This record gives sequence, C-alpha cells and structure tokens, in this order.
Amino acid sequence: MADALKIGIAGLGTVGVALVRILQNRANQLAVTCGRPITITAVSARTRDRDRGIDISTYSWFDDPVTMAKDADIDVFVELMGGEGGSAHASVEAALARGLHVVTANKALLARHGVALARLAEEQGALLNFEAAVAGGIPVIKALRESLTGNNISRIYGIMNGTCNYILTRMEKEGLSFEACLAEAQRLGYAEAEPAFDIEGNDTAHKLAILTTLAFGTEIAADEIYLEGITNITIEDINAAADLGYRIKLLGVAQKTETGIEQRVHPTMVPRDSVIAQVDGVTNAVALEADILGELLMVGPGAGGDATASAVLGDIADIAKSQPGAQTVPSLGRPAALLSPYKRAEMRSHEGGYFIRLTVEDRTGVFASIATRMAENRISLESIVQHSKEPVNSAGDKTIILVTHATMEESVRQAVAAIQKEGYLRGEPQVIRIERP
Ligand code: NDP
Ligand code: HSE
Repeated sequence: MADALKIGIAGLGTVGVALVRILQNRANQLAVTCGRPITITAVSARTRDRDRGIDISTYSWFDDPVTMAKDADIDVFVELMGGEGGSAHASVEAALARGLHVVTANKALLARHGVALARLAEEQGALLNFEAAVAGGIPVIKALRESLTGNNISRIYGIMNGTCNYILTRMEKEGLSFEACLAEAQRLGYAEAEPAFDIEGNDTAHKLAILTTLAFGTEIAADEIYLEGITNITIEDINAAADLGYRIKLLGVAQKTETGIEQRVHPTMVPRDSVIAQVDGVTNAVALEADILGELLMVGPGAGGDATASAVLGDIADIAKSQPGAQTVPSLGRPAALLSPYKRAEMRSHEGGYFIRLTVEDRTGVFASIATRMAENRISLESIVQHSKEPVNSAGDKTIILVTHATMEESVRQAVAAIQKEGYLRGEPQVIRIERP
C-alpha cells in the first residue's frame, strides 16, 4: 500500500470535529477505498484546551493555522475555520504557495479570492477542492466541474442555505417565530458564525457566485449579485403565499440573458406542487438546465457537521487517489486564465411574476387607484384581492394582495413608487418575486 496521505485540519468546530470523528472511525475503510491510509498529523483551532469530544492528543497542535500551513508535516491543508480574509485566507495562500493540496468548505473565502487561489494552485500543481462550500453534502461542484463537461448551461438555481430553509419551513409548518427558528438552526450547527450572513442572503450569494463561475466559465462576481434576505418575510406573507398555492423559498438564481448574466438572491414564491417547493428544513436543492443533458435536480442535506464533513472527505479522498504529477482538473472547471470577464444583466430588466402585499387605509377609491397605477405601468394583473375582511390593526387598515403576470422589474418598481405617493399606504409594501421552475 502507498504511503499515508498526511493531513492538517485548521478549525475544529461543527465541521472539523465531525471530520476528525469520521477519519478516526473509518480509517480502515478509507485506506481500502483510497488505496492508502489517510492520517491526521496536525490540527489548529483558537482554544487548545476546549473539550471537543474527540481525542486529538496524538496530533501536533498549532495555535496559528498559518504556521501550520507553512511548517507542519502534511500533504493536505484542510481549512474549516471560515471567514473571507484573516487566518483562513492567509493559511490557504501559504499552503498553496508551499505546494500543498487544499480542501476548504469556505464559500466566503472562495467568493472573494477564488480566482487568485485557483491560479496559485495551478502554478503550484496543487489541488484546491471545495465541494462542501456549496449546498453542503450535495456533490454539485464535482457535477459541474467534471460530469457536465461539454454542456452549455443556461440557468442554475436553487435553495442553497440550510438555515434559511429551516427557518421558513418551521415558521410555515409549526407557526414558530423567526427568532426561535434561527436560534434552533444555530444550536444544530447549521448557521454561520455570524448568522446575518445566512438570513441576509450573503451566504447564498457566495455560493451562487461560485456556481455561476463553474456553470458559465466567467470570473467570480460576488459583488454583482442582486441581494435580498429573508428578514422581512412575515408569517402573513407565508400564509398569503399558501392561500395562493405557493411556498416561499430563498433562492439563488443565475441565468444567461440577452444582455449578460443575471445573478440574484431573494425570497421567492414557487408553486406548491413544484419539486423545489417540497424541499424542507435544512435540505438544499440545486437545479440546472444544460443543452446536452437537459434538466438536472440535485437534492440533499445542505448543512450540519456530518453532511458537510462527508463532502470534505470526498475531496480528501480524491487527493489520496490522485497520481503525483498527473494532469489535474482545474479548480474552477477551466484554467483561471481562461475564465471570461463577467457581464452583469441589470435586475431592472428582470422579467417574471410578482406578489405585492399592501397595507392600506380603508377608504373608497383605494382599490381603483392601485389598479390604475398598475395599468399605467403596463402591468397585467392575475389577481387583486382584499386579503381579509377584518382590519389588520386597530386603525382599521386592510391588506390588499396583487399577483401580476410576467412583467418587468422596472415597471413594478415604478408602479409601487407611484402607489407610495398616493398617501393611503401604511408601512412598507412587500414585493416577492414568483419563479416557475
Ligand atoms: P465553527 O464556528 O463551528 O468552527 C470554526 C472553527 O475554526 C473553530 O474550531 C475555531 O476555533 C476555529 N477558528 C476560527 N478562527 C480561527 C483562527 N483564527 N485560528 C485558528 N482556529 C480558528 O464553524 P463550522 O465548523 O460551522 O464551519 C467551518 C467552515 O465550514 C466555514 O467556512 C463554514 O462556512 C463552512 N461550512 C459550514 C457548514 C455547517 O453546516 N456548519 C456547512 C458548509 C460549510 P475554536 O473552536 O477554538 O473557537
Ligand atoms: N450556514 C450555511 C447554511 C452552512 O445554513 O446553509 C452551509 O453552507
């Protein structure tokens, strides 16, 4: 049997601990399937004496992951700390510069520095693997990077944040509050260290930026994404969506248009009978449309220690099986130098259906005024209803819900702005895009 593959793990939190446990418990099985043993030789975290429920006493300890990347006796540096800069960036860069292979689950790092790191890996003949960075345990990176080679992809979209899907599902099915659901997602190890990244949509945007590059061969453009999180979604929206035959999901969508690539992350109403609407809890789903293959939908666990460690393990196993000096698959699907410049399609040009919920003063003419403002902006309405006969508050205000046929985002923005000037609107209008998978 070949020599052991020596790995160093930086980060012993939810994912790191799950990975150590699996590598310890499955050592014999992995040695057989990979053709060589996989041995942990070094670890790093912030607090050395924390009880993590695993035995790390035989591994070399490093207080500083950058020192571990530079000095440890390892073949592979596994980065499971998180954060787009700081120690994560410095240690991954140091490891690649030394010619070590790198495995990371860090989508924030890749969304910001992915192209530069991929270029460095290519120069050094090292592998940079990141299956766990997008959609947890779903092998979507490998599918895009290897299995779909030769396909032209026109659209890729999905539910890519387990925390948000968990929150929306439990709010809808159990009537729990947003805050209670988020706290539970944190307890279960799904949420980011800074959960605002989940609920404000940034985490989905990081993942979408990576998928866009792999799907369309363009440079990573994480700052070119239209972004809305789920913090404004209320139980009223969820219930109104259900009444209309929809469910609300936080989707990331990237699609080719005539003017460029549209990347967007926002709460989305999807028809209740669509497959993606049935994806509940921490589960993720990634769908794509490819010219040779047709449509593909992958569904699976999107977060959590074991699911994520499974993807990290697959990346390590690929390295263990690789032949030294052999041609490697480029990290981003093609050499970094051959990625095309990214051209953004403006969100104002997006075309689709819209759900609009308005809280209005209960007086004559309001209904007609809303319908007129819509017509003035050439918006065709599928329905306009006063949602409840009962007032929504002690002032006697009422809720009006509109659903549009396919229309331009620009028109919707102008119509809503015109309605806001009329003086009968109470609070902020709620606008949710409708997607028909
Ligand atoms: P945790 O917050 O649970 O763990 C982070 C670990 O990194 C901790 O062990 C911490 O040390 C260590 N760490 C942080 N900063 C440093 C530093 N400067 N030097 C040394 N060690 C450091 O994170 P997760 O395990 O949840 O996530 C890890 C990565 O995986 C992140 O990039 C995350 O986005 C990604 N990911 C997570 C998923 C999940 O479901 N949790 C799913 C997919 C990806 P200490 O324990 O001493 O504080
Ligand atoms: N916080 C992330 C999520 C972890 O909830 O999806 C997986 O990337």
